[in-house]
Amino acid sequence: MAHILGFGGYVPERVMTNDDWAALLDTSDEWITQRTGIKRRRVAAPDETTLTLACHAASMAIKDAGLTPDDIDEVIVASDTPEMYTPDTAALVQDQLGCRQVPTYDLGGSGCAGFVQALDVARARIAFDPKKVLVIGVELITRLMDWNDRATAVLFGDGAGAVVLGPETGRAQLLDVVSGTDGSAAGILTLAAGGTRNPFNEESFLSGDYQRVIMDGRRVFTEAVVHMSDSVNDVLARIGRTLEDVSLVIPHQANLRIIEAVRKRLDVAEDRVYVNVHEYGNTGSATVPFAMWEAVKDDRIRSGDLVVLTAFGAGFHWAAAAVQF
Ligand code: ACO
Repeated sequence: MAHILGFGGYVPERVMTNDDWAALLDTSDEWITQRTGIKRRRVAAPDETTLTLACHAASMAIKDAGLTPDDIDEVIVASDTPEMYTPDTAALVQDQLGCRQVPTYDLGGSGCAGFVQALDVARARIAFDPKKVLVIGVELITRLMDWNDRATAVLFGDGAGAVVLGPETGRAQLLDVVSGTDGSAAGILTLAAGGTRNPFNEESFLSGDYQRVIMDGRRVFTEAVVHMSDSVNDVLARIGRTLEDVSLVIPHQANLRIIEAVRKRLDVAEDRVYVNVHEYGNTGSATVPFAMWEAVKDDRIRSGDLVVLTAFGAGFHWAAAAVQF
């Protein structure tokens, strides 16, 4: 059994409101609020990178666990916006934090489901070899997206969340995780360029493909609602519990309408679903760990609470985790 020993979360200081977007693009606070529930998001400072965000959240989680970087035995980073393509961000985190020369790796490209998938990997690693695993979800999307594409740009923000997992009793117990993938839906949410199929080159630069997000918004919406709610039921069935036992569901914060549709499909009350998408927008694989950190910090989660995390992302991947505080 893996336990969560500490939590961390970080967002950059700069706040960008919907009105700030409306000053740059043909959009409005009304459109963004109605379609997404987002009111503002954070944007990284020019001197911040993915590594900066990741290390802020990770340092907090390590400290919160009463540990030092020297105690960490493995590092996993979930991100679609890495510090660089090679090497992985996790290697840079190991060095920056001053961890020992332990194994590190990224779960890249699994979109917003990456952090919950990483929890699944981490607990398996701990079961195989009792150790302390630092798991980080981080995105600095605003630096890589197309600021001229109103259909996608207004959705995203930057941030990071982290936990330290270990085999010994801690703040919460990771009871179980379910995850799944439907690769046939890869085309509904993907990047137009980068990688061997369509490399970054002069052609992709001139066409604008180098920073284009391809998204079938309506299809993503439908798939997200079905898989996020089904996976909550699946993970609860595996641990022999029901939604009545759950104090809080923490869904991936892509947009309020998706969260609302998941809530209605699960038939749970509003106060049992955590929402902060209005404040931070969609921070990709950071939304779930950041929201969990925030909920713990603000006493929305108390000892004895059963909490379910659920996320979906490009791939199409989904994952849900049951956490007993
Ligand atoms: N401001 C104003 N108008 C806009 C904007 C904007 N920012 N963006 C698009 N529009 C326009 C479109 O051009 C379109 O205009 P038209 O009717 O003249 O062609 C109109 O608004 C409607 O566009 P739709 O795409 O049909 O709007 P929809 O109601 O589907 O909402 C949205 C779009 C918010 C993206 C919705 O489909 C959605 O929430 N999808 C889920 C996708 C998502 O959340 N992705 C996040 C990343 S994925 C992840 O987290 C894993």
